[in-house]
Amino acid sequence: LPVTKRGVTWKRSAFSISLLFFRMIHTGASDLIITPATTFKEKPDPTGLVFGTVFTDNMLTIQWSLASGWEKPYIKPLENLSLHPASSALHYAIELFEGMKAYRGVDGKIRLFRPTLNMERMARSARRTTLPTFDQNELLECIRKLVEVEQEWVPYSTSASLYIRPTLIGTEPSLGVKKPTKALLYVILSPVGAYFASGSFNPISLWADPKYVRAWKGGTGDCKLGGNYGSAIYAQQEALEFGCQQVLWLYGDDHQITEVGTMNLFLYWINEDGENELATPPLDGIILPGVTRQSILDLALNWGEFKVSERYITMSDLTSALEENRVKEMFGAGTACIVCPISKILYKGKHLHIPTMENGPELTTRFLNKLSDIQVRCFLFYNQIK
Ligand code: COI
Repeated sequence: LPVTKRGVTWKRSAFSISLLFFRMIHTGASDLIITPATTFKEKPDPTGLVFGTVFTDNMLTIQWSLASGWEKPYIKPLENLSLHPASSALHYAIELFEGMKAYRGVDGKIRLFRPTLNMERMARSARRTTLPTFDQNELLECIRKLVEVEQEWVPYSTSASLYIRPTLIGTEPSLGVKKPTKALLYVILSPVGAYFASGSFNPISLWADPKYVRAWKGGTGDCKLGGNYGSAIYAQQEALEFGCQQVLWLYGDDHQITEVGTMNLFLYWINEDGENELATPPLDGIILPGVTRQSILDLALNWGEFKVSERYITMSDLTSALEENRVKEMFGAGTACIVCPISKILYKGKHLHIPTMENGPELTTRFLNKLSDIQVRCFLFYNQIK
């Protein structure tokens, strides 16, 4: 009898394992249940958009549990979430997100900009925060469908786009600090305008103080986790009190320059060896692997006109270069603003003037124009969705 019992138990669990395997492998974009909104919000004027404040009519949701794997994906009217108050995302920040954009090209077609890079990064963030990983192609196909349903929300403008915010949260209804057994993946969409309201560059000023660090070796700075952003706001507030707009994040005893606000950082200068160089800190674990960062490096390497380096830059490297008139341009780069020139740094009580604007800014403008050409005009990097 015991042998038979064990046999039955084994057979049952083998059956449930194969069922789980089946669900994990086979639940995908083809299972999408689309019940779109039947009442529609008014589409805003693309010239007056404030970043992340207006949302489209529908959202994508996909539930996950350890017991059943990924459930069927839904595209349904945007609604509030109903979460257990103990949900692990709310207590232990078991949460990640992505930021990507869909553009309406001058040919009327809608395209996502290098979305596979976002999917790869999202899967890496999921692994790091113990949230479930997923089939990147299937998720991208679900997002493509959502954008297709919401296609009228993609601004009819070359200076505005539809911001896509995939989000994955732990919904474990328990206060135990552990890997969640329940999660929710959802995607919301928000039409966004040009980061610079005037359409021209507004250079920003930075506050650099090593007393706050954004990320550290062995931490989560190279993943897009909500916790990285929430814990940076305190320093951002202090930057504002000092009359600066953003934080220049430093790291280590030698005050390495790492990121600026929520953006990657680039320095275009004449380096210590007298070479024209575009430099950005290397992906050593504390730098977010930005899609715009990668695209700028890809473009610059392709042009082959100056040295392109992923290298360390310290505040002392920068101050020496400023004294020797070797700095040409400094800028931040991210999905939200594309590129953002830097004109001032407050460091150790001194205002350092960065001559970005005096130098055009030739290279920063060239990147902005080239990326916008790719996104809405010449289609070098893209995935066509329609
Ligand atoms: C980006 O520009 O890519 C960002 O991450 C900003 C976002 C957090 C609003």
